[in-house]
Amino acid sequence: MLIDSYDRVVDYLRVSVTERCNFRCQYCMPEKPFSWVPKENLLSFEELFEFIKVAIDEGVKKIRITGGEPLLREDLDVFIKMIYDYKPDIDLAMTTNAYLLKGAAQKLKSAGLKRLNVSIDTLKPEVAQQIAQKDVLSHVLEGVKEALKVGLKVKVNMVPMKGVNDNEIIDVLEYCKERGMTVRFIEYMENVHANKDLKGLKSEEVLDILKQKYTFYDEGFDGSSPSHYYRMDDGYRFGIIEPYEDDFCKQCNRIRLTAEGFLIPCLYFDEAMSIADAVKKGDIKTAALVLKEVVKNKPEKNRWGGEDDESSTRAFYETGG
Ligand code: 5AD
Ligand code: SF4
Repeated sequence: MLIDSYDRVVDYLRVSVTERCNFRCQYCMPEKPFSWVPKENLLSFEELFEFIKVAIDEGVKKIRITGGEPLLREDLDVFIKMIYDYKPDIDLAMTTNAYLLKGAAQKLKSAGLKRLNVSIDTLKPEVAQQIAQKDVLSHVLEGVKEALKVGLKVKVNMVPMKGVNDNEIIDVLEYCKERGMTVRFIEYMENVHANKDLKGLKSEEVLDILKQKYTFYDEGFDGSSPSHYYRMDDGYRFGIIEPYEDDFCKQCNRIRLTAEGFLIPCLYFDEAMSIADAVKKGDIKTAALVLKEVVKNKPEKNRWGGEDDESSTRAFYETGG
């Protein structure tokens, strides 16, 4: 079992398979063209899998494939099947923007993927165009429909932003509710890459909007999920993710692997150690040592919004949010 210095069991690994993305969401990426890490620096699926086996053997029980946009990498279903075949009862999930999902959902499900997180920030094509800086909405909604059809469980993320989509909080919730998808409203996290003019809504502001239409009660946190859950009278549950709250990191059970092989103990901090050389040489022992070292170095909490705020300069699209 992997246990950090604050007695938290680390059993959740997020694996970013690419930092590239076909969207340019304003809360995530700069508007101007910028250079990606060269493709030859990326670990192959076989190399990533070498590390994943080590992590599973050390006690990881949940793996989420992230990006950038993971579906930009070819043969992702083959990679998912490698993981599934090694440990079929692993909780295997993926975060995607859903743009390429329509043609891929069945293959992913057959390969062993169980769950998906997708972003639906708006139901208006022109607002989606404004947020993603591309006309994306119809592809996204078709992708989500297909994922539900093939039996994948889907959770939806929405980042409410003032003057952009804050008038659609109820519409997005209704859309999800009608289709059996849990929606989670994420407080916008400031970062150096995002559009400087964005202002996110705080959880109280989101709750105030929802209170105008619904009654619900606070269910608190569910296990290690970073989401604070609320249940409505008819049983529907929605969540709010509040990274600025003091106890946000208390239950954190995750570490992250980037597509280049950096193992990162916390999204917020810049410290990282590479497992690239080890897996390229097939040196499993060293990979396991690096993993244990990174878990040991996992910080107690992020410092978002704190007095000594030293925001990480690493982009969310590198580390999979
Ligand atoms: N603030 C809050 N959420 C973000 N995401 C990406 N960037 C940010 C940010 N700056 C979330 C999006 C997406 C997921 C991958 O990460 O909701 O669904
Ligand atoms: Fe791409 Fe996701 Fe970032 Fe949007 S939030 S630009 S979909 S990585």
